[in-house]
Amino acid sequence: MRDVFDLTGRVAIITGGAGLLGQKHAEAIAARGGIPVLLDLPATEPGAVGTRIAGEYGVRALGCAVDITEPSQVQGLLERVLSQFGRVDVLVNNAANNPKVENAVQGEWSRLEHFPLAVWEADIAVGLTGAFLCSQIIGAQMARQKRGVIVNVASDLAVIGPDQRLYRQDGLSEEEQPAKPVSYSVVKTGLIGLTRYLATYWAQSGVRVNAISPGGVFNGQSDIFVQRLSSLIPLGRMARIDDYQGAIVFLCSDASSYMTGFNLVVDGGRSCW
Ligand SMILES: NC(=O)c1ccc[n+]([C@@H]2O[C@H](COP(=O)([O-])OP(=O)(O)OC[C@H]3O[C@@H](n4cnc5c(N)ncnc54)[C@H](O)[C@@H]3O)[C@@H](O)[C@H]2O)c1
Repeated sequence: MRDVFDLTGRVAIITGGAGLLGQKHAEAIAARGGIPVLLDLPATEPGAVGTRIAGEYGVRALGCAVDITEPSQVQGLLERVLSQFGRVDVLVNNAANNPKVENAVQGEWSRLEHFPLAVWEADIAVGLTGAFLCSQIIGAQMARQKRGVIVNVASDLAVIGPDQRLYRQDGLSEEEQPAKPVSYSVVKTGLIGLTRYLATYWAQSGVRVNAISPGGVFNGQSDIFVQRLSSLIPLGRMARIDDYQGAIVFLCSDASSYMTGFNLVVDGGRSCW
């Protein structure tokens, strides 16, 4: 049987590629022989991340400073990828704003009643509009090629409501308690709609579109937060940073060749409890 997880020579564009999970997605793709192209904001130095991954995995890799909310930058990136590699096979819409309210000292801004319009608009711009623009520009190229894969990175909060008890802090009044931002749930749920739309729109053009809904990754959160969240998860722990790599390779490769329009929930069982 051929290796259906093989990604040799496949060019995979990953938005938010220099972030915590974006780097792991890129490493997983590189480990299977793919060519990761990491897009991120200049401050994250995506070029240096691309160089590191190329060196560590012995593959070609590229990191580019691209603001995915700017269509001209996404178009320019696509042209650069096509001239440098001659193809594009995978798009992972991974970028999002994800303010860590669990670490917030002042959480009042995050409550629905005070939620700033500017934050709402910025979160929608990156997480939803950015995914739409990248899909429109890069997905259209895949449709012309009659081949490609799009993976939208959603969240367990695309399938369940946030449990605001997780974020409570002692000594604060109800009005001051931090809350998971409303924009996060809306962006992630919207991505599932985008996934289904694109999946049926391009089904006859050879472009498969799926989502992955990860649960929370342990990244140095407080003990009390980790305890509270772990108690809501049947597997009894938050995700490790590399827990999603298998699912990403599965969705990006021919291993998922008969799947489109699906949301793969990888949450330690949280949403089934
Ligand atoms: N970390 C978790 O626990 C977790 C859980 C579930 C889902 N997710 C999702 O996984 C994805 C990655 O999360 P993460 O934890 O690595 O977050 P992260 O903040 O480390 O990475 C997100 C990246 O997106 C980039 N970005 C923001 N705006 C951009 C723009 N306009 N153009 C290009 N890049 C931009 C950021 O610079 C950052 O590097 C997000 O969609 C997040 O919602 C994360």
